[in-house]
Amino acid sequence: MNKRVLVAGGAGYIGSHTVVELTKAGFEVVIVDNFSNSDPSSLDGIRKITGIEPIFVEADCCDKEAMRRVFERYDFDSVIHFAAFKAVGESVAEPMKYYRNNLLSFVTILELMKEYGRHNVVFSSSATVYGDAEVLPVTELTPRKPATSPYGATKQMSEDILRDMVFATEGLNGIALRYFNPIGAHPSALIGELPRGVPNNLVPYITQTAAGIRECLSIFGDDYPTPDGSCLRDYIDIVDLARAHVVAIERMVEGRNKERYEVFNVGTGRPVSVFELVKGFEAANELKLNYKVAARRAGDVTAVWADTTLANEELGWRAERELNDTLRAAWEWEKYVRGNK
Ligand code: NAD
Ligand code: WQD
Repeated sequence: MNKRVLVAGGAGYIGSHTVVELTKAGFEVVIVDNFSNSDPSSLDGIRKITGIEPIFVEADCCDKEAMRRVFERYDFDSVIHFAAFKAVGESVAEPMKYYRNNLLSFVTILELMKEYGRHNVVFSSSATVYGDAEVLPVTELTPRKPATSPYGATKQMSEDILRDMVFATEGLNGIALRYFNPIGAHPSALIGELPRGVPNNLVPYITQTAAGIRECLSIFGDDYPTPDGSCLRDYIDIVDLARAHVVAIERMVEGRNKERYEVFNVGTGRPVSVFELVKGFEAANELKLNYKVAARRAGDVTAVWADTTLANEELGWRAERELNDTLRAAWEWEKYVRGNK
């Protein structure tokens, strides 16, 4: 069994945690990253946690010749593709940046996988493909809604590219994992999320507010048709999410996949409101957060959470970490980052 994996975008938030879990499960990992949204400190964190120096190649996944050298040199049979830009708002302002990077990096890798006869690929998809779903929770059969941002469009297109490529390529297997809202950090606090500038996402904004870097958290809307008026999301712990990649790769490597192209939701199955998350953060870390209610944020859906039955039954995977522990880890990581600056 070939237990070697190329992790494209492996220096990033989800990639670095996945590298740790892959290493724990006995995989050898080759990381490719161009640090466009990360920095080498995550590689130090991986080394400290695993005790293993990860193989690392600094390259742009859109650069076919550079990627060809990676395929020539290392005989991994599986690839996990994280290498994409992810800021929804920025994608609206700079669509070409997103179409170019997110699509070209994936097409380049899939073409090389075909050329070099590599077999298994996991793609980072997103709950964003469901848009404003009519029936909740969403299952993998819930129809995708037309994308409302170029970022979302790249996720839908990439899923379709993967599906088409799998069907056209003998021996190629693909799994698209649709992540809900990844949060938290490794319990060691040695790796975590490193947002650049002002965070768009809720948890980094909370931790930066608690650290005094942001003055006040704005809760975007308290007049939604939900129990407490704030939006509902499915917040998935980053280590649980990382483990889902390991089981997805193992399923394909061991030939247990039922279809050559499969899609799984990766969430907790539990809706949590913004107020609950804020209060949960305060309770878990025994502190008070400065927050206020503000207007709704354009583009936000009222509620989305996952039906995770398929991942539970087929991958034998489920979210395990308690939200309390996740929110504690998020705060420990924020303190570690500030201490290191
Ligand atoms: P991240 O920005 O922390 O990680 C992405 C990594 O890929 C970064 O290290 C970046 O430097 C690298 N990268 C980007 N383009 C590259 C290129 N052309 N060549 C080489 N390296 C490149 O983001 P993340 O949160 O870890 O997200 C990973 C993947 O998961 C992305 O595809 C993202 O769209 C998807 N996703 C993320 C979330 C989320 O909320 N974090 C939710 C759903 C899906
Ligand atoms: C969560 C909730 C906000 C910030 C995004 C992408 C999605 C996926 C995951 C990649 C919402 C509220 C937020 C703040 C707030 N990424 N909020 N104050 O929007 O659910 O999903 O990340 O694929 O595609 O859109 O996540 O963390 O931005 O927001 O009140 O300062 O927190 O309104 O209800 P979102 P988020």
